[in-house]
Amino acid sequence: MIKVDDIKKDFPIFERKINGNKLTYLDSGATSQKPNQVIDVMSDVYKNNNANVHRGTYVLSSETTSKYEEVRVKFKKFINAYNSDEIIFTKGCTEGFNLLANSLCKNLNKDDEIILSEIEHHANIIPWQMAAKKYGLNIKYIKIDDSYNLDLDHLNSLLTSKTKIVSIVGESNMSGMLPNIKEIVSNVKSKSDAIFILDGAQLVPHRFVDVQDLGIDFLCVSGHKMLGPTGIGVVWGRKELWDSMDPVYGGGDMIEEVYYDKATWAPVPHKFEAGTPPFVEAIGLGVAAEYLMNITMSEVQQHSDSLREYAKSKLENIDGLNVVHSNSKNAGCTFAMSVEGAHAADISLMLDTYGVAVRAGHHCVQPFHRKLKLDATFRATGYIYNNEEDFDTLAYAIENSIKMLK
Ligand SMILES: Cc1ncc(COP(=O)(O)O)c(C=O)c1O
Repeated sequence: MIKVDDIKKDFPIFERKINGNKLTYLDSGATSQKPNQVIDVMSDVYKNNNANVHRGTYVLSSETTSKYEEVRVKFKKFINAYNSDEIIFTKGCTEGFNLLANSLCKNLNKDDEIILSEIEHHANIIPWQMAAKKYGLNIKYIKIDDSYNLDLDHLNSLLTSKTKIVSIVGESNMSGMLPNIKEIVSNVKSKSDAIFILDGAQLVPHRFVDVQDLGIDFLCVSGHKMLGPTGIGVVWGRKELWDSMDPVYGGGDMIEEVYYDKATWAPVPHKFEAGTPPFVEAIGLGVAAEYLMNITMSEVQQHSDSLREYAKSKLENIDGLNVVHSNSKNAGCTFAMSVEGAHAADISLMLDTYGVAVRAGHHCVQPFHRKLKLDATFRATGYIYNNEEDFDTLAYAIENSIKMLK
């Protein structure tokens, strides 16, 4: 069992008071807080090792290079990749999708199809829309049912010989919905030769994602949502796929030979990492992954599940509160909420007076909001440093805000 009080001590931000109250941080869906271990390792690199990676034969550069490259090995273990060279560093999940859309779509034929779902984050819509426009491809969307779950019969009806890419979210950043990825992948693979991409932005921080077991082809991850710093993410992909793909960004570090009129590419992973990489951030991410592995991802998941059950019963019993949350038994600890007649931003401002931090807006899932006929919601996400008391405070603050609005 996770001991939240002990974990909280690793996170200096919880020493802050907000509007005279203790901080109740429930916005980890947007970004997680950072433990001292991550902050300290990054500061230590700047103080003691700082030198560009892959560029020097001197001590400092060799030190940062090996620390940077070691993160690939740690991340390989974290997601059970086949090979550490399959780990490509990006600046976040969004950049991962842009990389994949640009590199994969140029090899497709006009009228080939990409399947997404109705609840995708803009990061997993816009890059495909841009590529579809450029290469004449079509995008289809898997419908959701009344419980906010993906309609798998509908997915089956969309799969054709023209389906070349299926890219879906692993955990909804709005309803906490967790699709059965393994089942979906095996369905997709039995009916098409499509590449399967998983959006791990919300899933990877909360559950063990075993890329081999799931049978997926690519996984996009954001470092800052899993205790790591901003400016770093990972795209994992099967080595043979990376080998067959062209790079998207050109520049230093990604080449083998450069002439005035042509160039050859460095082997994977460097082929996809042009220029100076965010090596200090990557080193921070390595420590974040280690922090989670030390707790163990099964404990992290159990905590998410028990906190979700508690939060769900609290929030669903508040009069006048509309809660958008997956009705399935298996879901993440994320709740989007609205109050009729009140704007989400106003509620969020009222909650702030209690020291409660939640996000208000469309959370980059505007089509999903539109489908539910909602302009905006406010959203609470629980993580390893949250406990039942945090959701008690949230519920109390929401109830009082609703009373005041009446
Ligand atoms: C489900 C999902 N996918 C992708 C992203 C994009 O992540 P980033 O903004 O870190 O690139 C987010 C961020 O909120 C997300 O929640």
